[in-house]
Amino acid sequence: MSTIRNQSLAPEGKLKINWVKEHMPVLNELAREFRETKPFAGLRVAICLHLEAKTAYMAKVVQESGAQVTITGSNPLSTQDDVAAALVEDGLTVHSWYNATDEEYEDHLHKTMQSEPHLIIDDGGDLVAMLHSQYPQMIDNVRGGAEETTTGLIRLRAMAADGELKIPMMAVNDAFCKYLFDNRYGTGQSVWDGIMRATNLVVAGKTVVVIGYGWCGKGVAMRARGLGARVIVCEVDPVKAVEAIMDGNSVMPMLDAAAEGNIFVTVTGCRDAITKEHYENMKDGAILCNAGHFDLEIDKGPLEELAENKRLARKNVEAYEFNGKTIYLIAEGRLVNLAAADGHPAEIMDMSFALQVEALHYLNSNHGKLPNDVLTLPQAVDDKVARRKLQAMGVSIDTLSKAQECYLTSWKAE
Ligand SMILES: NC(=O)c1ccc[n+]([C@@H]2O[C@H](COP(=O)([O-])OP(=O)(O)OC[C@H]3O[C@@H](n4cnc5c(N)ncnc54)[C@H](O)[C@@H]3O)[C@@H](O)[C@H]2O)c1
Repeated sequence: MSTIRNQSLAPEGKLKINWVKEHMPVLNELAREFRETKPFAGLRVAICLHLEAKTAYMAKVVQESGAQVTITGSNPLSTQDDVAAALVEDGLTVHSWYNATDEEYEDHLHKTMQSEPHLIIDDGGDLVAMLHSQYPQMIDNVRGGAEETTTGLIRLRAMAADGELKIPMMAVNDAFCKYLFDNRYGTGQSVWDGIMRATNLVVAGKTVVVIGYGWCGKGVAMRARGLGARVIVCEVDPVKAVEAIMDGNSVMPMLDAAAEGNIFVTVTGCRDAITKEHYENMKDGAILCNAGHFDLEIDKGPLEELAENKRLARKNVEAYEFNGKTIYLIAEGRLVNLAAADGHPAEIMDMSFALQVEALHYLNSNHGKLPNDVLTLPQAVDDKVARRKLQAMGVSIDTLSKAQECYLTSWKAE
């Protein structure tokens, strides 16, 4: 039995899923292969991901590859109820709805875990943490899992360092075909999609402050520059700070940037990137949003305390009024690109989700042989995904001649 909001929304969800399917050629190719060979026959797969159309299509591919699939959302605001309904119609079990309370979100995770999975796809580490802390009796049955994002990997590596990780976990986020495209170009584009849909305001001429210049931050800053903004980057890593300067951004501490910015985007994967002293320094009309995994990058507590008045300014935008100024917060500080838009473009998630399905296949094919650790996908899998992407784009590349191969593997001068 599924736990969803409204089954009658299924036709709209189907349209969305069909649209992304037409733009995910690498996943389509994998689906063709696995529909024949059914590598997941007889297995139960639990998925915790942002439940929108691309995720739904990937879940359907896993199902068509033989698995029984149970899926939940990885954020209370990113589930699309019509997509959830479409999946139920197609025979998947879904436990998720848009705008879940903390208790409901937790309950949906529990219900998903109770499907007793053999394989797990996680995004942010919530499902795997729950498996270890609340369902230890199920661990022996789990062949492994695949983690989608940077924050999830930080949590998993902390578990492994404490000797607490009891299953092999594939670090899908660390594959080249994931972070180079999803984190950079995906986040870069979809964060602006979310901000523009939420505010309907111009970016050109504004000062944008990007906090965190990792793979996501680089994408967000790059697209902000492209939209005509002046970009300030705040970092704690000196190398990334130099990189940000060379890429054409200004760099300064957040307390100084707070006084200059019009739009603030946090992408640190860390807590309290924006907090009380920053709100006090901000200009009237400053817009804040977060693109990092959890909603603790913008410290909302002090904002609530400072506010003399709080009101809904627009769908997905709350206004906090204090000291004669107004600060706007988009989507409660949750992932702006998923809570206020549809997440990354389909062509980007094509590669990320092909990697996810490949990761499950790798775990299953090597069942019993892998250590209980955070593992990197083999280079051959990354190359397969990249080659299929190139093929879908109609692009061919050169290959090394025998002489070139010898030259590159030899230490002797010719
Ligand atoms: N919105 C999305 O769709 C999406 C997509 C991929 C990843 N993510 C999430 O975005 C976050 C960032 O991911 P990433 O891959 O860019 O990580 P990353 O590790 O490549 O980059 C994070 C950067 O933030 C910096 N940083 C950390 N704490 C800071 C602080 N307090 N102030 C300033 N800078 C700080 C680090 O030095 C680092 O350069 C993670 O939570 C990740 O899970 C979101």
